[in-house]
Amino acid sequence: MAKLKVYVTRMICDNGIKMLKDQGYDVKINPLDRILTKKELLKNVKGIDALLCLLTDKIDAEVMDAAGKNLKIVANFAVGFDNLDLEAAKIRGIMATNTPQGSTEAVAEHAMGLLLASARRIVEADKFTRANKYKGWKPFLFIGEDIHDKTLGIIGLGRIGFAVAARALCFGLKIVYHDVVRNPEFEAKFGGKFLETSELLKQSDFVTLHVPLMPSTRHLIGKKELALMKKSAYLINTSRGAVIDEKALVAALKKKQIAGAAIDVYEFEPKLSPGLTKLNNIILTPHIASATIETRMKMSEIAAQNIIETLGGKVPAHSLHK
Ligand code: GLV
Repeated sequence: MAKLKVYVTRMICDNGIKMLKDQGYDVKINPLDRILTKKELLKNVKGIDALLCLLTDKIDAEVMDAAGKNLKIVANFAVGFDNLDLEAAKIRGIMATNTPQGSTEAVAEHAMGLLLASARRIVEADKFTRANKYKGWKPFLFIGEDIHDKTLGIIGLGRIGFAVAARALCFGLKIVYHDVVRNPEFEAKFGGKFLETSELLKQSDFVTLHVPLMPSTRHLIGKKELALMKKSAYLINTSRGAVIDEKALVAALKKKQIAGAAIDVYEFEPKLSPGLTKLNNIILTPHIASATIETRMKMSEIAAQNIIETLGGKVPAHSLHK
């Protein structure tokens, strides 16, 4: 019997690759350390049974049709899945999966890292010290702000929002949250108070975003929402760039309408909006919130397991189809 074919769009941790090979699949991996062009992708997927792709690959109807009738699953190596055309997959009877759980803790840790770095000016202070500008202790040198007793607004209370809340409590933050549905379990466990987004923006000292990118969350935070935030507040984003209207954010930071922002994701990734790098009240990291070795290994394993389950005729644990 011919071997089932799996194509992997870029090298990932090899524990997942080994799982696929151990099943006897014919596994091919893009040997280039870069994103494939659409043309390359269309060529490489021909005749495959499973596709393991990254958030940087746009998997649309054209790619699925180029793969052909054997394609049974598109397994995204990411928790976010705005790069997949789920409708096109569903119509064609193709499974689509993501890697939740894999990155929950790491992303929450990064969000907290950005929050701490913002409030305590860690990035600015590091640059200053490296430049040999530290000439002695001063009462107002890099004066930041307390974190304890402040209010953290969490928008999007999925696994990552929960994990951020757990950490935030240890730092003495009070928690308010917004999600499409109220979560009584969360309120009981974390003392988190449910607020409508506009009220949350008004009351929070830090706002952290943990929603998936969908038509309803695109530009969730724009000019109007930024204007509601406290002048002393910070905005943290480790979800997807387009959840924030980046042009509006640059304008708000320029005017010092809010104290600062710390973002890991960009609206036009990997391009940065004009003016973003000129601002000194923003911390920028290159979409690395899940970039820990343990997490990337877990993601590799989950993506492989989704493929194994699907090719084995089961409904995988992380199906994205409703
Ligand atoms: C990273 O952004 C992910 O969606 O896993």
